Amino acid sequence: QTGYVAFDSGYANTGSCISNITYLDGERGVLSYRGYDIAELAENCTFVEVAYLLDHGSLPTRDELNEFSQMLNDFAMIHEDMIRFFDSYPPKSPPMAILSSMVNSLCSFYPEMTENPLENIDRMSARLVSKVRTIAAFSYKKSLGHPVVYPRHDLSYCANFLNMMFDSPVRPYEINHKVVAALNKLLILHGDHEQNCSTSTVRMVGSARVNLYASVSAGISALWGPLHGGANQAVMEMLESIHESGGDYRQYVERAKDPKDPFRLAGFGHRVYKTYDPRCRIIKQACDEVLEDLKFSDPLLDLAKELEEVALKDDYFVERNLYPNVDFYSGIIYRAIGIPTSMFTVMFALGRLPGWIAHWKEMWDDPAWRISRPRQVYVGPLSRPFVPIDQR
Ligand code: SDX
Repeated sequence: QTGYVAFDSGYANTGSCISNITYLDGERGVLSYRGYDIAELAENCTFVEVAYLLDHGSLPTRDELNEFSQMLNDFAMIHEDMIRFFDSYPPKSPPMAILSSMVNSLCSFYPEMTENPLENIDRMSARLVSKVRTIAAFSYKKSLGHPVVYPRHDLSYCANFLNMMFDSPVRPYEINHKVVAALNKLLILHGDHEQNCSTSTVRMVGSARVNLYASVSAGISALWGPLHGGANQAVMEMLESIHESGGDYRQYVERAKDPKDPFRLAGFGHRVYKTYDPRCRIIKQACDEVLEDLKFSDPLLDLAKELEEVALKDDYFVERNLYPNVDFYSGIIYRAIGIPTSMFTVMFALGRLPGWIAHWKEMWDDPAWRISRPRQVYVGPLSRPFVPIDQR
């Protein structure tokens, strides 16, 4: 009953937004970015190529990729005054709270990017894609009380992130190209997903002509929720809890089915997919490959597979078309790479960033753009006579 009413621009009166960025078929489990199937992109591209595709509408030529990569390299540092912000956060500050506020602060350090965005849009996008990676890694180092590791000009986007996360003066980080490849694949699979909660938030906020940084900051806050991007962290916490209590996942399945119990099976179900999430299929396969490559065995992977098998045969889940989604297995790979559970949703934001930027730009490029202003169905009382306080 509530939702979008007819808008001139961007919103059809079908209650949906008009876009040419991502195609999603929830019945057939199809997902493509700018017409390219997600499986092909995940198999053949780097995350930087796909970020370029989402933002520019076509895969880059080698020269375009080199130019974009050079911009990402040039923008990799953050202002030294911003690094001092980290010292003011309490040690256990939620990484998503830090990320959202640091991204919003970019408006203060780069006002020229926000005053005339259409002139600076490519630089602004590259600046954001590069700096969010640095902010994420710096926040992790600061949470450990360790010195930050600066980005390097000789490393690729993902290798630089891993090096900033795990290198240290006393233990140099050895770049493993299979880990880099796995991270590229994970970030690609999170790149965009049409009008999900956080992307709709970026569009909603941006529709008031709010600059890109502040719009993305709002999207980061929306992604934080355990029903959305926070689910990858919730999946790992659920699997760890099952493992620590002896591995009896059936009680969790039964709890998830109990209408009186607010517990939901984290990483299961989706508003749009009523079949297997195509991203989950790719990530599940990558789990086996990465753990094999790293000689890392994780009992939680076996547990997740057993849990999936039981749920997919259970009438409750079958009747409601509940399948594992993108968040169900992604944490297994992040954990094998060494990324802490508290950073899993930050990783989701890192991947989703090019999609948020693409949607914000699509709106700004729309000549018929109007502010998003959904209406409602009012069900409250209409006219009530005023009663002075002493007579209430
Ligand atoms: C993401 O939108 C996107 O595209 C999001 C995303 C992206 O890339 O941006 O794909 C990323 O957010 C994936 C989803 C991550 N969240 C979780 O895994 C949290 C657990 N999932 C659920 O909370 C739920 O499935 C949602 C939030 C994902 C979807 O919510 P819906 O579509 O509103 O589902 P619903 O509440 O209408 O469910 C329909 C029925 C209900 O039962 P009945 O009232 O019909 O008896 O299915 C049940 C729900 O109780 N149900 C679940 C369940 N998910 C739905 N029951 C148990 N466990 C679950 N996980």
